[in-house]
Amino acid sequence: MSRELDEFWALLKKLSDAFGVSGFEDEIRGIILDELRSVADEVRVDKWGNVVAVKRGQRDGAKVMWAAHMDEIGFLVRAIDDKGFLYLAPVGGWSDRVVPAQRLRIRLDNGRTIYGVVGMKPPHLLSPEEQKQVIPLNKLFVDIGASSREEAEKMGLRVGLPVDLDREAGRLTETRVTGKAFDDRVGVAVMLWAFRNIDPDEQTVYAVATVQEEVGLKGARIAAYQLRPDAAIALDVTTANDVPDVPPQDKVVELGKGPAIKVADGRGASGLIAHPKIFHLLVETAKEEGIPYQLELLPGGTTDAAAIAFTVEGVPAGAISIPTRYIHSPVELLDLRDALNSAKLLEKATLRITKQYLEQ
Ligand code: CO
Ligand code: ZN
Repeated sequence: MSRELDEFWALLKKLSDAFGVSGFEDEIRGIILDELRSVADEVRVDKWGNVVAVKRGQRDGAKVMWAAHMDEIGFLVRAIDDKGFLYLAPVGGWSDRVVPAQRLRIRLDNGRTIYGVVGMKPPHLLSPEEQKQVIPLNKLFVDIGASSREEAEKMGLRVGLPVDLDREAGRLTETRVTGKAFDDRVGVAVMLWAFRNIDPDEQTVYAVATVQEEVGLKGARIAAYQLRPDAAIALDVTTANDVPDVPPQDKVVELGKGPAIKVADGRGASGLIAHPKIFHLLVETAKEEGIPYQLELLPGGTTDAAAIAFTVEGVPAGAISIPTRYIHSPVELLDLRDALNSAKLLEKATLRITKQYLEQ
């Protein structure tokens, strides 16, 4: 297990540290393409940048689509002021509370990177009321070390450039790790891992690394339309809220207790109610293969599976979620064993998806 853990961690860290704000996925896409080329029968990139890798079985069976999003939440430069400070617009769902005091990376048109910090008043100057306030994102400014707009522009800054967090993933213990973009680079890592291992007999397996999930499940929708799969499984993170001051009934899932099999997600279950065929297949597979698992009801947010499920004539879809704490923060935290077990569950369950099973 330990060598497997080390290898998986190296892959996850490489993926998480890469730049890939929604709509600006070039760098992360390059890494994913490198990982897939040697193991796929065919790899292509579609018009919006989804990566589609194909592995075909010996016989002509069910077409199974896997989806994990390669994009991460981030920002766009919204304005540059006379003193050379930048202002941000959010890309994806940020909590304003986590943005102050972060170090950021700004990707220039020439591919180079500029660093900045989110500045703020020091505590010495704050009134007692201000001390308690959350500063809204639109009031935050980024200091890139420039002293004027002209200097910032000379450095290559312009309105519209993408920005991510300058945060390298790190290993806390043998199995627990933290990083900026485990949502959803851990899903991508799980998918790549399972894709490398799977040897389908009759299935055609499509491993799709999708774009623009964080801004509305956009890449997955067009990929499903292109592929017309018979079934789909999305890989994404889910909230492990097993932390102090949360009553046990509100924890959603726990770290280290295995992959989470999606029951439903979204407010009022409006995201996705997993298709019963996929849900039961995942549960049965976990039981029979001796893979630990948990059931997931996520009260907010959804995954690519929701977009794939209701495309074209409809696709039976479900999701395997990797329990993760502090999602959409610079310090997302997970247990590598849950990820490896997710990859195993994905592989074993997919081998059981037959046309006969789907039609019965
Ligand atoms: Co997300
Ligand atoms: Zn995600």
